[in-house]
Amino acid sequence: MKADLVIHNGKIVSPDAVIEASLAIKDGKVLAVGAPEAMPPATETFDASGLHILPGAIDVHVHFRDPGYPHKEDWESGTAAAAFGGVTTVFDMPNTIPATANGEILAAKHAIAKSKAHIDFGLYGLLGDENLATVPELLQGGIIGFKLYMGNTFGKIASPDTGATLELFEVAAQSGKRVSLHAENNDIMERRQKRLMAAGIRDQFAHLAARPAVVAVEAVSRAAILAEWTGARIHVLHISTADELRPLREAKARGVDITGETCPHYLMLSTEDYTRVPGVIAVNPPVRQKHNQEPIWQALLNGSIDMVATDHAPHTPEEKTRNDIWTVDCGFPGVETQMPLMLTEVNAGRMTISDYVRMSSYNPARIWGLYPQKGSLSVGADADIAMVDLGREHTIRDVETQSRSKISPWDGRKVKGLPVHTIVRGRFVMKDRTLVADSKGWGQSVHTIQHMPPPQVRNAEHTMQAITTQCSAGRRE
Ligand code: DOR
Ligand code: ZN
Repeated sequence: MKADLVIHNGKIVSPDAVIEASLAIKDGKVLAVGAPEAMPPATETFDASGLHILPGAIDVHVHFRDPGYPHKEDWESGTAAAAFGGVTTVFDMPNTIPATANGEILAAKHAIAKSKAHIDFGLYGLLGDENLATVPELLQGGIIGFKLYMGNTFGKIASPDTGATLELFEVAAQSGKRVSLHAENNDIMERRQKRLMAAGIRDQFAHLAARPAVVAVEAVSRAAILAEWTGARIHVLHISTADELRPLREAKARGVDITGETCPHYLMLSTEDYTRVPGVIAVNPPVRQKHNQEPIWQALLNGSIDMVATDHAPHTPEEKTRNDIWTVDCGFPGVETQMPLMLTEVNAGRMTISDYVRMSSYNPARIWGLYPQKGSLSVGADADIAMVDLGREHTIRDVETQSRSKISPWDGRKVKGLPVHTIVRGRFVMKDRTLVADSKGWGQSVHTIQHMPPPQVRNAEHTMQAITTQCSAGRRE
């Protein structure tokens, strides 16, 4: 059999090992991995001397703003940024305009993404109090999972109260899909923000004061209890504090299907950066005091935190540099810089490159039911590849990035380790740090290949659906 492409002389990285081997690709899939002489003949060969070959990163947390905010980002610019960052699959959040809350809106977003994406994608469906009735449409239309906003953030999607959250978890549990959580307690934040605003306090530190660690700890703990009760699968987005780790670990130990992510900004930035880049660094949850960093690193390395994601949240310079912190749009881009930032830590000896593959690709693929088609370079897997030069030094310059945002706290930061080529299902989408122009529209939705394990519903007899059925049938106990 003739391969389409054979890559020679690279070092292939898996969560367990780094092997020097050649890799053959046919019809977008890995055809063979092994000694160069064992490779089939190929239409094209590629010399990856000096490069590491990683399964492309899967970023389960991006905001590509399309439809709704084309001045911040769209599917074309967002996925171009991803391609430059060695990211081959993204999961996009529902806080677009309109929010991804019903079947019709979801179908329209699928069409937009399909027409523009350079890389593969999954779409989150909103799980909110107002759209309980449209959950079946979202499932029918094809979502990678649900997003539930326990706390308010950009886009001002209403946070369901605890009663609604329980009911939404009941419904999600039945579906088997994972619910990704913005785990911050809304009541505490709203009250504090109101007080601070009334007192005329409007600096970067006030934002942190409105969102102390307890808002995250409380939300993670409450979500874990509701997930344990219902059997819902949950994912804690953007873990920012050391304090969240205890409820996360305890819930895992109790057998709750709970996973977690952190982001480079919680690992590498702290309140010490606030005066350097006020406004620009504003993000929800906030970048925190330095003492949080080490415990979060340890949790990421020992598996309590399952993965690194980015919360890529582009806004424009004007939206990020307003004097009043309460009017600053929170978030900044990250999908393009995550891999270089983390490879810099590999170079510094913080972790191995296999550790990095586990947290950037293998674990996300497993947790969302995409493994082994994604998150692996074994025979039969999708040929989604980031070829990285671990020795290459680079300075991040926001103006040079693909994202439309052009402003982040990473500007000027030196990194060592850079993705130089990105392949999605066998096709180069970024080559020699240049976008492959006709790869626009090559991306496709991954919901069609998702295989979540069967739902594990618990306390089914107590669900809202069960009790209303029982009561209307006149049965009471
Ligand atoms: O800072 C943030 N920005 N946090 C979020 O949760 C949302 C995001 C956005 O969409 O801008
Ligand atoms: Zn987010």
